[in-house]
Amino acid sequence: MSEAGPVPVSESPFAPIPAAPPDPILGLTEAFRRDPNPHKVNLGVGVYLDAQGVVPTLHAVRAAEARLLEAAPGKGYLPIDGDPEYNRRVQALLLGENAPVIREGRAVTVQAPGGTGALRVGADFLHRFLPDTTVFLSAPSWENHAALFGTHFRVQTYPYYDPRTHGLDFAGMMEAFVRMPRHSVVVLHACCHNPTGVDLSAAQWVEVLRVCRERALVPFLDFAYQGFAEGIEADAFAVRLFAESGLPCLIANSFSKSFSLYGERVGALTLVAATADEAQRALSQIKRVVRVNYSNPPAHGALVVSLILGDATLRQMWEAELTGMRERIQSLRRDFVQALGAQGVSQDFGFILQQRGMFSYSGLSRETVLQLRQEGLYIVESGRICIAAMNERNLPFIAEAIARHLRSVPC
Ligand SMILES: Cc1ncc(COP(=O)(O)O)c(C=O)c1O
Repeated sequence: MSEAGPVPVSESPFAPIPAAPPDPILGLTEAFRRDPNPHKVNLGVGVYLDAQGVVPTLHAVRAAEARLLEAAPGKGYLPIDGDPEYNRRVQALLLGENAPVIREGRAVTVQAPGGTGALRVGADFLHRFLPDTTVFLSAPSWENHAALFGTHFRVQTYPYYDPRTHGLDFAGMMEAFVRMPRHSVVVLHACCHNPTGVDLSAAQWVEVLRVCRERALVPFLDFAYQGFAEGIEADAFAVRLFAESGLPCLIANSFSKSFSLYGERVGALTLVAATADEAQRALSQIKRVVRVNYSNPPAHGALVVSLILGDATLRQMWEAELTGMRERIQSLRRDFVQALGAQGVSQDFGFILQQRGMFSYSGLSRETVLQLRQEGLYIVESGRICIAAMNERNLPFIAEAIARHLRSVPC
């Protein structure tokens, strides 16, 4: 081998590495960027865009950042489990201000880099103590779940979405739950199910909890959209039901969407244990997981969220802005269904009004989705559309393109 310059290809340890398949959603965005069509619209994204088509920086966030800049809290490391004040405020937001589970010390929370980071830490933790368990995901689920849990566990699915009704297959779901082996981990979307937008009713959650207790399952609630369905308190129903029930569970939450802080990576992992002592032992183990993964979490976004949650004025501002995002998505759902009707679409798209959160499973076939891309409308192959990426300007183009296809190829 010569002393300088690249080694011969045959000598490189990386030569046999195959290229990974493109991420289905990020890959779609890359294809969208390359498309020269000036009318193109990307409904494949997983972010809320405002009326101008950009990710908003909330006023509450700007105000909190101005205060932080002034206070200059320094750039030292945070503790392994993150900012203690942030963790306390997050617990109160998720579990309720005066929740018995907090008073009893049965809940522990660690700051995490976004919802993904929280899920990763939770999966690594579970792997240490339940290495042979199976993880069950809804069919379908957020596509990163399978990859994330698949690095450690056998991953299987339970029935969830019924394409015939565009709603929940609750009977199928329950049949699967009663057959799950003891201590299986079951991942549940606490609200605004991604990708379908189909959620459980309160009565159905009570039933799910009952079966989880009966089968000694380990619920892992993914809570990435608090405030996007009905409101901050109402959306926490399932999380609080499980946390107060006495059944140990995990909760991964994200502030990417609710504070529009995607790139700051803000979230948390909360573990609810049977006793305060068990919670502390679990916390010590979760901290070991964090230490070997990224040592301690990024500070800025969490300080912003903590400041907003702990200050009456900023909090009011944030809650109003979150309400604004939620209500705007709801009115976009109505506008979209109306626009399809105005284009002469005869199929009933009323189900889009029942679905909650940023996404809808449109029912569009893969074939239709691929054809629409040729015309500049980008949708994930499953037919998931991001309602939160629509606006007054792009809606006519979207409705017209979809209607043209539905008239020729029924979905
Ligand atoms: C269901 C679900 N869980 C977790 C996440 C990850 O959130 P974050 O971007 O904060 O990592 C998302 C983001 O799209 C999601 O939809």
